Amino acid sequence: MRVLVTGGAGYIGSHTVLALLANDIDVLVLDNFSNSYPQVLKRLEHLSEKKVPYVEGDILDVPFLEKVFAEHEIDAVIHFAGFKAVGESVEKPLKYYNNNITGTINLLEVMAKANVKNIVFSSSATVYGMTNPVPFKEEMPTSATNPYGYTKVVIERMINDVAASDPEWTVTNLRYFNPIGADKSGDIGELPSGIPNNLMPYITQVAIKKRDHLSVFGDDYDTPDGTGVRDYIHVVDLANGHVQALEKNMAEKGSKTYNLGTGKGVSVLDLVHTFEAVNGVKIPYEIVDRRPGDIATCYADVTKAKEELGWEAELSLEDMVRDSWNWQQKNPNGYEDSSDGSSN
Ligand code: NAD
Ligand code: UFG
Repeated sequence: MRVLVTGGAGYIGSHTVLALLANDIDVLVLDNFSNSYPQVLKRLEHLSEKKVPYVEGDILDVPFLEKVFAEHEIDAVIHFAGFKAVGESVEKPLKYYNNNITGTINLLEVMAKANVKNIVFSSSATVYGMTNPVPFKEEMPTSATNPYGYTKVVIERMINDVAASDPEWTVTNLRYFNPIGADKSGDIGELPSGIPNNLMPYITQVAIKKRDHLSVFGDDYDTPDGTGVRDYIHVVDLANGHVQALEKNMAEKGSKTYNLGTGKGVSVLDLVHTFEAVNGVKIPYEIVDRRPGDIATCYADVTKAKEELGWEAELSLEDMVRDSWNWQQKNPNGYEDSSDGSSN
């Protein structure tokens, strides 16, 4: 089986490529490197000891997509390609609607023409919106508070509608909670451009002294220590969840939706203190105002993925903070330093 992995050079895509290869599933990476580096592919080859074929191009480019499907034997698609910065999506909504939604429409149309009707899509816990009670369950109503989130709500709906219109389609929406961590090797990981929006990359940049302190966005939430609670999941567990979801997707027609999280809530200060204890590094922080749009608590009900996919997160919070720090330390300047297969 060969899987087209759109956005396969990105943070979650690269770890998923490694997991697919480890399970003897062939891949074809498609990426325009708008938020990643071609060096990732060299590192994936080094880590997997396999060739990682790729095509450079944009899912907004329909003739390019048609050529990819005409020239390669493809059985299914795992679709990561998209923009993901919530704040930027508020400032540049059309950039997000165009890349994420138009890009997905193009992909679905070209897939249908090529008779490749299997897709696994990267959705997000953000589709649970502001009002559902935790733990979030797949059948709860979806909504969004920013353009990025709306793209996920709309794409899930679009993919489900396509499956409903044609029984040959098999589709899976995976709702990721908060992926952090990196492959044990420290050779691939998350590389935010500019000032990180997300907590973990901000912490590692404080740890490496790129930034002098962390701003903790609010300590007056209705949570055990007043700071925001999230369901952090190791990116390697998340990547393995894709392999299970793909196998289920190939075996069963129709549309499915799964939460991929650990089911455990961790506060900002829990994460900071675990990072400090495991890695022996101090993280200076300051409490500041809440960040607009943040909810107090977000964690998954993981029963459905466990029962139907036979998948469950295995790695601990300690593994997550250790592997994030290892990646940051080995790659203080990201992928820029090397063009070979390793970060050493
Ligand atoms: P990422 O930015 O590291 O990876 C996305 C990849 O897609 C990048 O390599 C980028 O170059 C590529 N890309 C973007 N637009 C493209 C286009 N038009 N054509 C071809 N390639 C394109 O992001 P990630 O963290 O790996 O996230 C992957 C997916 O998971 C995204 O759809 C994201 O919205 C979703 N997601 C991420 C998180 C998270 O916290 N990281 C949480 C929930 C959902
Ligand atoms: N936080 C800080 N300081 C920071 C960054 C974050 O205190 O510098 C806090 C936030 O207020 C929140 C927690 O850390 O309580 C986690 O914040 P992140 O930005 O890391 O993650 P979010 O849960 O806000 O958002 C993430 C992704 C979104 C996705 C959402 C739900 O960034 O794309 O999870 O899946 F939509």
